[in-house]
Amino acid sequence: MVSMIRIRHAVAALVAAFALVVPAFAAAQSAPMQPAIAESATITVLKGLTVPQFETEMRHFVQGVGMNCGGCHTRGNFASEDNPKKAIARRMIEMTRALNKKYFPAYVPAEGESTLGRVTCYTCHQGEASPKSAAPPAP
Ligand code: HEC
Ligand code: HEC
Repeated sequence: MVSMIRIRHAVAALVAAFALVVPAFAAAQSAPMQPAIAESATITVLKGLTVPQFETEMRHFVQGVGMNCGGCHTRGNFASEDNPKKAIARRMIEMTRALNKKYFPAYVPAEGESTLGRVTCYTCHQGEASPKSAAPPAP
């Protein structure tokens, strides 16, 4: 009788142990490999993005403002601060973020969309460096 109770205890202890270990193991197995975070001394506003997200954001910039990579960067050195458009673009990122935070805080960008939010570079620029402030004159 005593030994039966001991066995039951032992089995219960084993089941309890597996209940703890198995989900942790399953989680470790199914968790997708997290891509590295894009980090650099000269990445000062677009922080916390994964490398693929960062690259996608740069492509959104190209489409949004109608400049190629060289429009904001110096040839052969993306970290360089020599191109003055890069500093302008940084302020634009901050402005866009501020607009989203204040007016569209609930918006969650879908996969592949700009991480900035509902308002993007494209919203104003529509593929041109200088956004229009007025409609073109009537023909
Ligand atoms: C409209 C301007 C603009 C365009 C166009 C642009 N970038 Fe950038 N890029 C920036 C800004 C601003 C930063 C710095 C972001 C920060 O400070 O967080 C940056 C940072 C980077 C960095 C990180 C450099 C470092 O500090 O180590 C890389 C890499 C990069 N861009 C690649 C690209 C590529 C590739 C393209 C073209 C597909 C591109 N960029 C197009 C504005 C631009
Ligand atoms: C709320 C509207 C708005 C948004 C959003 C916006 N911009 Fe701008 N941007 C402007 C205006 C207005 C100018 C001034 C253009 C001028 O001087 O004629 C400008 C100018 C610029 C310039 C300088 C262009 C030049 O030829 O000198 C760059 C670069 C730029 N924006 C990049 C960006 C990027 C990158 C984003 C997204 C992160 C962005 N902008 C989002 C309105 C906006």
